[in-house]
Amino acid sequence: MIKLQYGRMLEDGLDGGLDGERGISRARLADLARRFAGVQGEVRTRRAEGGYGFYELVDQPHAVKEIRAFAEGMGQAHDHVLVLGIGGSALGTKAILNALRPPGWNELDDEGREFFPRLTVLENIDPVSVAAALRRIDPRRVLVNVISKSGGTAETMAQYLVVRQWLEAQLGDAASRHIVFTTDPARGALREVAARDGIATLDVPPAVGGRFSVLSPVGLLPAALVGVDIVALLEGAKRAVRRAESDDLLKNPAALHAALLWAADTWHGARIHVVMPYSDRLREFAEWYRQLWAESLGKRLDRRGELINAGPTPVAAIGATDQHSQVQLFMEGPYDKAITFIDVGEPEEDVPIPERPDLPADLAYLPGHTLGDLLRAEREATSAALARMGRMSMTLRLPRLTAATFGELLMHFQIATGYAGVWYNVDPFDQPGVELGKRLTFAALGRPGFSGERLAPPPAGDET
Ligand code: PA5
Repeated sequence: MIKLQYGRMLEDGLDGGLDGERGISRARLADLARRFAGVQGEVRTRRAEGGYGFYELVDQPHAVKEIRAFAEGMGQAHDHVLVLGIGGSALGTKAILNALRPPGWNELDDEGREFFPRLTVLENIDPVSVAAALRRIDPRRVLVNVISKSGGTAETMAQYLVVRQWLEAQLGDAASRHIVFTTDPARGALREVAARDGIATLDVPPAVGGRFSVLSPVGLLPAALVGVDIVALLEGAKRAVRRAESDDLLKNPAALHAALLWAADTWHGARIHVVMPYSDRLREFAEWYRQLWAESLGKRLDRRGELINAGPTPVAAIGATDQHSQVQLFMEGPYDKAITFIDVGEPEEDVPIPERPDLPADLAYLPGHTLGDLLRAEREATSAALARMGRMSMTLRLPRLTAATFGELLMHFQIATGYAGVWYNVDPFDQPGVELGKRLTFAALGRPGFSGERLAPPPAGDET
């Protein structure tokens, strides 16, 4: 079970929390706890109305059975899985691979990967990386998973067209047997192609939005293909859902996390919400969080349609690396940040720092410890140092990084985002702000129906 330590968000004084001057007061914490009844009530109502569909993903035995059958059948026949997708259709898969498979997965030989396939997520449409990926992968041994809930996202569709032609050039009509679509059960261009060409498909539940879909077939199929225990992942997620049933804010970690970040922003100007795991294996998780928090909470209008231009800015950092990059700013820059550290507990492998006879005296403190000891000490020290400087932080503690605790962590953040939507009074499930850019792109590429959009070039002359 993961734990949220939040004492350093509070102004209590150094031993219990911050420096005694900054941070959230106990009185305000009590106020948040009182107001939480309304927040919880609203989430329950919206859930009952079919919103917040991602909660229901913890109970999808049919999809799990289908995914496992697929992974054990078609999946086993390939030694590379190529995922085409972007945003919520890519970031969760990258986070799972990074967290739950050994580092450098694609560089390992078959034995190192326990004979599970390599996994590449194309994600971007940068022609240089796409061309390089296709040169590296053998089309005869690849399974291509095209993931798009809408079935029409320009980047993913362009990737698909390129990859399909690349497959057909080598495999002819057999190409379609190397493709599986994960998309809406009824709508979109991919659904149409699947029906026409007999391509295998898995459904994205309509009530689950892109960035909340990691625990749907969107993330679960690639995860199962590379040997991740998806049942354990969902068991962990279920724990997060269970804990979010509590009406006591202090016993509901996801709700408390959201409430404290909202309060830090609204009452203390901490508009920047940093997530800083002390584990390379959560590097992609931090990127996933960044999209979840940004796209869900950054909104022009509130739920009544009034202009608010609200939204905290998420920042991804990694310890200890970013102690030598961003921590200077966190310590001494503006008081506009609240940091969530993530501690993954005992590493499954540790490396002792060896003794040497010729060691300079200045380095004598290192041998006798492990790299894990050093990482742990640095995380504790950074959190304590920030508190002494009046900087708010919390720590999410995982007992260990496993499929179950990672599933719990993913669901914790999704639930927290749903609660934050209520505190900020925005709809966390839409993204109207990306539409204009899409329309201008379509106009630039001559898509019928978009000629009315004018893509004005930047004013001439203001260039140096
Ligand atoms: O969170 C979201 O809804 C978006 O980031 C989508 O995941 C992203 O735009 C890709 O959409 P789709 O899965 O429809 O291709």
